[in-house]
Amino acid sequence: MEPSLVTQTPTEPAPGSTPTPVSAPTSTPLCDLGKVWLNGQIVPAEQATVSVMDHGVLYGDGVFEGIRSYAGKILKLKTHLDRFFESAKSIRMGLPYSADQLADAIRATLAANGRADGYIRLAATRGVGSMGLNPFLSPTPSVFVITCELKMYPQELYDNGMKVITSSVIRNHPAALSPRIKSNNYLNNILAKIEAIDAGCLEAVMLNTQGNVAECTGDNIFIAKHGKLYTPPLHAGILEGITRNIVIDLARKHGLGVVETDITKHDLYTADEMLLTGTGAEVIAVTEIDGRKIGYGDQEGKPGPLTLKLNKAFRGMLADGAPED
Ligand SMILES: Cc1ncc(COP(=O)(O)O)c(C=O)c1O
Repeated sequence: MEPSLVTQTPTEPAPGSTPTPVSAPTSTPLCDLGKVWLNGQIVPAEQATVSVMDHGVLYGDGVFEGIRSYAGKILKLKTHLDRFFESAKSIRMGLPYSADQLADAIRATLAANGRADGYIRLAATRGVGSMGLNPFLSPTPSVFVITCELKMYPQELYDNGMKVITSSVIRNHPAALSPRIKSNNYLNNILAKIEAIDAGCLEAVMLNTQGNVAECTGDNIFIAKHGKLYTPPLHAGILEGITRNIVIDLARKHGLGVVETDITKHDLYTADEMLLTGTGAEVIAVTEIDGRKIGYGDQEGKPGPLTLKLNKAFRGMLADGAPED
């Protein structure tokens, strides 16, 4: 899932106004960004700014990657950089740095912050242009790397599983804005996230225009049924999650079958287990959806055995040294 990197200082409600009731956390702790790599320079975070005329600001025109470093190893760095370049190509943004230069930028940012473990955000905005959409009038993207500590959810949810809802917001149709592009425009996901927060939880399942399960606002979805894993295929309109692919590989290595197939809401409701994967969230069990507890018998409403096995395999892989590719 995509984290909130910045929180707002809570403000007092104006006299006479009704404070909005909230049933789930609306902010994460303020990230201490320290030093930021911006367009080739490491600068203090306060100096890492882009123009208000940057089309990333004006139109959400840009692409990004969410990456993690574990004990100084950057998990699937090459795959993340490949996906970043593919996103940029898809929106016809020429990046002014090579993949090697961006890998160096990421390592330099981690080093400048003395950080071996943490979340890394690599982003490119379209750059400064004139008012109006034409991206070709913004010849120079702004590229930056920020790092911070990130625990996406409270430990309690990792231990006991989380509750989610199905959002009424449909995931972007691939022919409108492909979810394969990791675009700086996350409004589709944010609208679904708002529904999750209103419902007192932290994640929402998004369906596609066919009514099949696509993905969560910032994570990919798996279910387990009768000892096998199922996950929506890329054609369901999802981001090709790097953690998703790691989990598929780990599952197969551990002798578990994984089927990429269309999944319905009914499949989620009647699954033996449900889990989410993402760079931010890592691997987390879902134990309740739309008021239905997941699972059966004494397993009902608890993280199931396959989820625990996959989580252990994921942690084991990291403990052996996160593969950079
Ligand atoms: C919409 C969406 N789907 C899935 C994912 C999971 O992808 P990954 O495992 O590459 O982080 C993310 C995470 O960034 C996401 O934002």
